[in-house]
Amino acid sequence: VDDGQASRTAVIVCQGRAAADGRLAPERFADPIATQLLSPDERVPVAQVRTGTVPHGWSARVEYETVRASAEVAVPRTVAIDDAIRARTTPQLILVGAGLDARAWRMPELADIDVSEVDHPSSQADKRSRLGQRRPLARSVQFVPVDFTRDRFDAALAKAGHRADAPTTWVWEGVVPYLTPAEVTTTVEAIAARSAPGSRLIVNYQSPSIRASLGRALAIGLSVVAQQGSPWAREPRRSSWTAATMSRLLVRNGFSVDSDDDLLCLARGLGMPVKESVSLQTGRVAVADR
Ligand SMILES: C[S@@+](CC[C@H](N)C(=O)[O-])C[C@H]1O[C@@H](n2cnc3c(N)ncnc32)[C@H](O)[C@@H]1O
Repeated sequence: VDDGQASRTAVIVCQGRAAADGRLAPERFADPIATQLLSPDERVPVAQVRTGTVPHGWSARVEYETVRASAEVAVPRTVAIDDAIRARTTPQLILVGAGLDARAWRMPELADIDVSEVDHPSSQADKRSRLGQRRPLARSVQFVPVDFTRDRFDAALAKAGHRADAPTTWVWEGVVPYLTPAEVTTTVEAIAARSAPGSRLIVNYQSPSIRASLGRALAIGLSVVAQQGSPWAREPRRSSWTAATMSRLLVRNGFSVDSDDDLLCLARGLGMPVKESVSLQTGRVAVADR
């Protein structure tokens, strides 16, 4: 993410949730707010995916496939994270790299919970203008602008009133791949330093895969051919972790890993039809407790 430009990947994930709403695993997944956060242009491929109307032309087709794939990934990861939030509630919930996450506006279970959204200043400013005057269902929502490559995350949270002596649930979804291993390590250390006993860290990350990297290179190539700036040009993949290396990082920082599942397994558990298994197989959600 660059200064002055909001995250495009945050929009793609939001388009994925909007495309999946009420359609994929409808008994377990719903995000009716996602579509409301999108611009009319951004809703076009969402509507096409919802109706299965494959558009003509390269550019529209690339956009369609990107949103379709995003919907497939968004559902199992959202359901797994929502379940982990509900299973062990804490008075504070922090969304690390919140993007266009609508949890604070869609989950009634957050009525007694103070939510903080930490994100890059440009992405956060964009989200706030998309939200307008919308009222959250959470007890409160606070916006904490942080650039993980530059700013002290822990200092920003302390300044924003986060209580390190009370348990916190941390959701770190769709962000780890865009940070270097050193940035991921520093962020886990900062999270650990502010995690009282009873805290929970829910982290979504990518495991290494040559097939997934080739698929991504192909998607970037197709975006170039379609003369669409690739969303991943400004947000390239910077780190992947095996379940074992992620577990070591979490344990070294005082967490015990409660579960760590791949998205394909989670999607099958939801009875979802899956078209592309590689990106689901390499995406993981780990839940770790203090
Ligand atoms: C793929 S989006 C995921 C957003 C959200 N968690 C979700 O799942 O919908 C990636 C998010 O990471 C944030 N991000 C990426 N690099 C960042 C950085 N250096 N500092 C702060 N946020 C960053 C972006 O602003 C964006 O909101």
